[in-house]
Amino acid sequence: MYQKAYGQKGAARGDKDKESAQELFDKLKKATSSECHSLLKKHLTEERFKALKDKKTKFNGRLEDCIRSGCINLDSGVGIYACDPEAYTTFALVLDEVIKDYHKVDKLDHPEPDFGDTSKLGFGDLDPSGNMIVSTRVRIGRSHDSYGFPPVLTKEDRVNMEKDTVKALNTLTGDLKGKYYPLEGMTAETQKQLTDDHFLFNDHDRFLREAHGYQDWPTGRGIYFSDDKKFLTWVNEEDHLRFISMQSGGNLGEVYTRLVNAVNQLQKSGLQFAKRKGLGYLTFCPSNLGTTLRASVHIKIPKLAATPDFKAFCDKLNIQARGIHGEHTESVGGVYDISNKRRLGLTEFEAVQEMRKGVEAVITEEKKLAGN
Ligand code: ADP
Ligand code: ARG
Repeated sequence: MYQKAYGQKGAARGDKDKESAQELFDKLKKATSSECHSLLKKHLTEERFKALKDKKTKFNGRLEDCIRSGCINLDSGVGIYACDPEAYTTFALVLDEVIKDYHKVDKLDHPEPDFGDTSKLGFGDLDPSGNMIVSTRVRIGRSHDSYGFPPVLTKEDRVNMEKDTVKALNTLTGDLKGKYYPLEGMTAETQKQLTDDHFLFNDHDRFLREAHGYQDWPTGRGIYFSDDKKFLTWVNEEDHLRFISMQSGGNLGEVYTRLVNAVNQLQKSGLQFAKRKGLGYLTFCPSNLGTTLRASVHIKIPKLAATPDFKAFCDKLNIQARGIHGEHTESVGGVYDISNKRRLGLTEFEAVQEMRKGVEAVITEEKKLAGN
């Protein structure tokens, strides 16, 4: 059964992480507001810091485990992670404010999951011409109930989670049936190829590194592919689990329906996921809470992206532009990753609709700028 991981070994802090919460906070305070725009900087006031600095979760997680990345990487956008599920209660004084600010909500009253009726979605291919959208992907994150998040996990915890996950994935049938490939033992060439093809994750994100996301790498990590490589699962990347549906072209209807089918099948597999009333599904980063859903397209928009108002255009539609090799990467050849920004305070169906409307507006604008 699912082992209770808390209270066993405490936070898996490395030797180099000797900085106390106070030392980290001092770095944050020293940074000017033009140097640091993170939500952590905005919401971790002196008063809140004092109230939280000596608190500890039942997983032995502390404030320093949550804020390390944002205090060291002053160019963070969010800047804070939850060291474990209980952090959302223990450190609510700062995390609640960050969550409301990121997801643009006044209250933390996230609705119950609702993926809608996939037989009546009302959307299919967002780019029937096939000229603009290169590929479409929808992912959700899940955390095993009763385990902490990276800063408090041990190697053994990750291995145990991996075993439980693979057992559940092996129950998938039909188009979702596939095979699990652990990272341990995978050749560097295979890893590079899978990463270049946008399937696999790597350990290159300095934000996640400082948050202790890569402890004991690559143990306990891996990827599951369905036989057609359209349904994937990432094991122990940033979150315990990321379920991903993706394919070439712009057929959001097919991609979303596949993900919903996977969720429905996995619900019967015996896995228990961490979920909290008002916050939805719990994830390591507060930006992913709630639906945990990010629906994206890789889309060619050289004209729109070159306008000075590109970011404002995206912000207005609650969509986000990323480079094509994932977060914190650059665009290549005018191709951007466009996705919904909000994941909390709306249902899964509404989140995917927000992305769809945003992508439709992006296509219209690009065509207008190109004179078509
Ligand atoms: P996430 O937070 O959803 O995991 P990242 O921005 O870290 O997203 O991207 C993860 C990987 O998924 C990267 O390799 C990225 O290129 C790929 N990816 C994201 N969206 C798409 C898409 N629409 N089509 C193909 N690959 C995608
Ligand atoms: N911690 C990073 C920052 O604040 C990433 C935040 C959102 N992305 C993520 N993968 N959780 O910029």
